[in-house]
Amino acid sequence: MDIYELLKKDHEAVSELFDQLEQTDEDEDDERERLFAEINRELTVHGEIEETIFYPAIKNADKTHDVVMEGIEEHQIIKQLMSAMQDLGTDDDQWEAKLTVLREIVEHHVEEEETEMFPKARKVLDGDEAEALAERVEDEKHMLLERYSEQVD
Ligand SMILES: [Fe+2]
Ligand SMILES: [Fe+2]
Repeated sequence: MDIYELLKKDHEAVSELFDQLEQTDEDEDDERERLFAEINRELTVHGEIEETIFYPAIKNADKTHDVVMEGIEEHQIIKQLMSAMQDLGTDDDQWEAKLTVLREIVEHHVEEEETEMFPKARKVLDGDEAEALAERVEDEKHMLLERYSEQVD
């Protein structure tokens, strides 16, 4: 497995969680909170992994520099939105509107990574490098998930 497959698997998992969340009713606050907390955790850990392992590996190359800088900005917007949603709580009127916007931004960002950033990165990193990055990501992800749940508890 290389870095691209690994990151795409995360993208799919988040998309699945958004689907589940969208199927809940307005009065299912507990279920909404549970699913949102999962999305928040997945996206926070995923973003941190990209910013500490994947992006630095391709950031200094001409081909990928601009798309990485854009990606970092989008991560920032995603984090701000999730934090605002967390402050509001699922029963607030604005929460659902923010959820819709969050999904739109995440989908745009994922699309850009998969159709623009990854193909360009393949020209910057060779196959061995892409596999070595995947190994680092897997180790780091376990650690971050543990640290994240410690912080939340
Ligand atoms: Fe990203
Ligand atoms: Fe990503």
